[in-house]
Order: sequence, then C-alpha cells, then structure tokens
Amino acid sequence: MPKTIVIFFGPPGSGKGTQAEMLAKLTGWKKISTGDLFRAEIAAKTKLGILADRYIKQGKLVPGKVTASLVEKSLKQKASGFIFDGFPRNRGQLKELLMIFAKIFKKKDQIYALEVAVSDREVKRRLGQRRLCACGKVYHLAYNPPINNGLCDICGGQLFTRNDDKPKVIAHRLKVYHHDGEPLLDYFKKQGKLIKINGEQAIAKIHKDIMEELSGLKLV
Ligand code: AP5
Ligand code: MG
Ligand code: ZN
Repeated sequence: MPKTIVIFFGPPGSGKGTQAEMLAKLTGWKKISTGDLFRAEIAAKTKLGILADRYIKQGKLVPGKVTASLVEKSLKQKASGFIFDGFPRNRGQLKELLMIFAKIFKKKDQIYALEVAVSDREVKRRLGQRRLCACGKVYHLAYNPPINNGLCDICGGQLFTRNDDKPKVIAHRLKVYHHDGEPLLDYFKKQGKLIKINGEQAIAKIHKDIMEELSGLKLV
C-alpha cells in the first residue's frame, strides 16, 4: 500500500497541532511535531532540551541539523502514513526533508502540503489564551475550553501556558514564519501538491474541510 505524507503549514497558532492531532486520530497516521519533540526534551532537561529552550523562548528556530535527525528517527515507526507539524520551516530543512524522503519513501507514496491559512490578527487572539497539558492536549480558554477549569479532560493534568506565547515572542515567530516558512509553499504549489484550507473557521469545520480535500484525492 502506498503511504501518505501530509505536511502542515501555517503561522504559529493557526491550528496545525489541533488539526494534526484530529487527523492522526481518524487515520491512524503518525504525527511528527518537532515543537512537541523539543518540548519533551526540555521537560526531560536533556542537553538538546537545554539548547532548544534558549532559542524557543526567543521565538527563533533551533539551529543545526538536529531537527532533521529527530524527524528521521520518528519516521522509523511503522505506519501507513505520517503527518508533519512544524517541519520543514526553512529552505535548508526542506532540502533535508526531501533527502530523507528519497531514502525512506517510494515513488508511489503521496506527499502533500496542507496550508492552514490564518491572519496575524487571529494568531494573536488565539495564542494569548492557549493552554496546554503535558500529555499533549491543547486547549483555548474561549474557543476550546477544558470541562474543568485548569485541568485536562483526558488525563486530569494541570494546564499551563507555553513560555513562547508572550506578545513579543509571538511577533517574532510570525516574522520567522512569513520570512522562512511561507515561501516553501511555492515548492509544493508548483508540483500541484498544495492544499489550502481556510483556518479562520470553527475547529470542526476545518477538520471537515481537510477530510473532504484528502478524500477527493483518494488519500483517506
Ligand atoms: P511549534 O510548537 O511548532 O509552534 P508554532 O509553529 O509556533 O505553532 P503553535 O504550536 O504555536 O500553533 P499551532 O499552529 O500548532 O496551533 P494550535 O493547534 O496549538 O514550534 C515552537 C518552537 O519550536 C519554534 O518557534 C522553534 O523555536 C522550535 N521549532 C519547532 N520546529 C522547529 C524546526 N523544524 N526547526 C527549528 N526549530 C523548530 O492552536 C493554537 C490555539 O488556538 C489553541 O489554543 C487552540 O485550542 C486554538 N485553536 C485552534 N484552532 C482553532 C480554531 N479554528 N478556532 C479557534 N481557536 C482555535
Ligand atoms: Mg503546535
Ligand atoms: Zn492531559
């Protein structure tokens, strides 16, 4: 069976993580989120985590080839598909990803980019009220609140705020996305492999749009 690889693009706060999680649940495809991988390293206080934290706090990309090797390691899992959230984020990473794909995937495997389009204004509105649980579940105090105040619906854990969700850092993350990440969409567009979704709708409607696009391409 050919594998499907879906790469989420979109500014910080566009809902990549939220949608990637919903898609993974429905399809059984494995989600690879480089932000989540780094946050796990930070929580475990590993050498990589301590280094990554310095950059993430400032809204800068973690430098070097370390992200690509994390991705390559994650691709060793057995799965009929993979969902990328947060990689690639610049030209160098796109090159690295294509090299990894050439090693691992076959010609008939399907690779698509999925852009969740959201304005900078909406990003700022969303990230100020985001809350997270250590289990990975993401909430929004107004749009997607937990049932019990401050506690995770899934595991009961205490919710917390990400330390890069501060106005100054959000502004820098947006700048990095528009400068380094967004131009990569051209590569997929030229190959007819870009799916664009309106990210300024309700979470369930965006999920429905994504499923419709993927099923139109016979990927689900
Ligand atoms: P990463 O964790 O990838 O963060 P990001 O790209 O800034 O995106 P976010 O996770 O903030 O947003 P999201 O699009 O996932 O939105 P979410 O679903 O949470 O990266 C963090 C940092 O790690 C980077 O800045 C960098 O330093 C480092 N890093 C990561 N990858 C790297 C790489 N490849 N190379 C180098 N460094 C790397 O939704 C946001 C909020 O809105 C939530 O509260 C959610 O509940 C709510 N929401 C979601 N959808 C909707 C909707 N439709 N309507 C209303 N609310 C919604
Ligand atoms: Mg995310
Ligand atoms: Zn939890």
